[in-house]
Amino acid sequence: MKTSYLEVDNNEIIFQNFKDTRVVGEFIKVLNGLIEQRCCSAILNFKNVKEAFPNVCVPIAGIIENLSYRGIEFDFYYQSDYLKQIGIKQPFNVSENKEVLKNGSLNKIWRFDTPEDAYVLVDLFSQELQQKIVCEKGVIEGFEWAINEVLDNVVQHSGKNFGYVMGQIHNSTKHVVFCVYDTGQGIYNSLLKSEHKPQSPSEAIKLAVREGVTRDKKIGQGNGLWGLHQIVRENLGMLNITSGPSCYKLKNGDEPKTFDNIPQLPYDNGCTIDFQLEYNKPISISKALGGYQPVNFNLENLENSQGEVEIKLRDRVSGVGTRVSGEKIRNEVINLYNQSNRSIVFDFSSLKIISSSFADELIGKLVTEYGFYGFNNIFKLKNMNSDIQSIVQRSVAQRMIESFGEQSH
Ligand SMILES: Nc1ncnc2c1ncn2[C@@H]1O[C@H](COP(=O)(O)OP(=O)(O)O)[C@@H](O)[C@H]1O
Ligand SMILES: [Mg+2]
Repeated sequence: MKTSYLEVDNNEIIFQNFKDTRVVGEFIKVLNGLIEQRCCSAILNFKNVKEAFPNVCVPIAGIIENLSYRGIEFDFYYQSDYLKQIGIKQPFNVSENKEVLKNGSLNKIWRFDTPEDAYVLVDLFSQELQQKIVCEKGVIEGFEWAINEVLDNVVQHSGKNFGYVMGQIHNSTKHVVFCVYDTGQGIYNSLLKSEHKPQSPSEAIKLAVREGVTRDKKIGQGNGLWGLHQIVRENLGMLNITSGPSCYKLKNGDEPKTFDNIPQLPYDNGCTIDFQLEYNKPISISKALGGYQPVNFNLENLENSQGEVEIKLRDRVSGVGTRVSGEKIRNEVINLYNQSNRSIVFDFSSLKIISSSFADELIGKLVTEYGFYGFNNIFKLKNMNSDIQSIVQRSVAQRMIESFGEQSH
């Protein structure tokens, strides 16, 4: 058998790509065939897989791990370094991979087992996004709110206490994409025991995204999926919720659609929440969440007694020596400014020296980005020794000459 998603030869499954979500359904169909034949091993061949999107590799990794627990053995053929780094064979357990996590949370499949694991992930995802891309107002807050709710839902409602998550930045399309998967009871089963009593799995998903619908008022308020839905709609992003045999799709703010007869395994079909935000489109969080404005803890932690956002450069783990670090901090402060419209203070105390490339990437580029006047209105530099002052002076001067030269040509 050969389709545009996968090819099957006995018990060997050759994936054609890892970018189209239909691969997941096709994979499940083949697995069902193997389970029916009481086949207890399969070969997974990745020779055609060059790139992988979260909404394909997260559910597939979760399904593989789940079936391995049930005694099916999988052999992995032609796993590229890229796929190994993603953790398709063995998702990264948060508590056992703290060091890996510190080096980057995106582009890896994480398995979270506790609310603490989920908390660590939310924090690092948000930090990494802020350091890698400049987002429009509301995107970081909206993302953080949404991912937190979705991970919490796995812990609260799946009945399994663990799940899988992966995120990516797609620079060319300006998308932030995340997918969360669990092998639990699914939305329909969890709501079946509640007062809502959905008539079908697709109705269960439609109910779950409504404001105030929760399986148990003592545990939840029913705002999580509703809020995610609102945030995605406000941003004209994308949301796919797949649970059991049904799938709910919201795209570009259009009328949502539901689909039934999605292939499923005989057990543990759980829930997949796949969402995409456009990071160059602003989101009005208070509009999306009906007047509610979540507390921005990151901003609060950085606030000094004058109400300014203060960046203590000596505490930055990435240091003050490299271009990469300068760029991370520059992106982060632009995001902080977009979120808060407050003055940003760079505190250079306890630093003896910084590299010219760091100074250029951070200060030089901020001056050209905002203009001399704009920079002076937003940013303050304090506690710089004379060596650092001359390094910054030189890099700003060079940048300004360069940008002036570009403009006058
Ligand atoms: N991962 C999941 N597994 C099973 N059921 C879920 C999952 N996520 C959400 N649900 C169902 O959808 C309902 C609504 O979720 P949500 O809007 O986050 O509200 P709350 O978490 O406050 O109940 C939950 O009460 C639960 O019944
Ligand atoms: Mg919830």
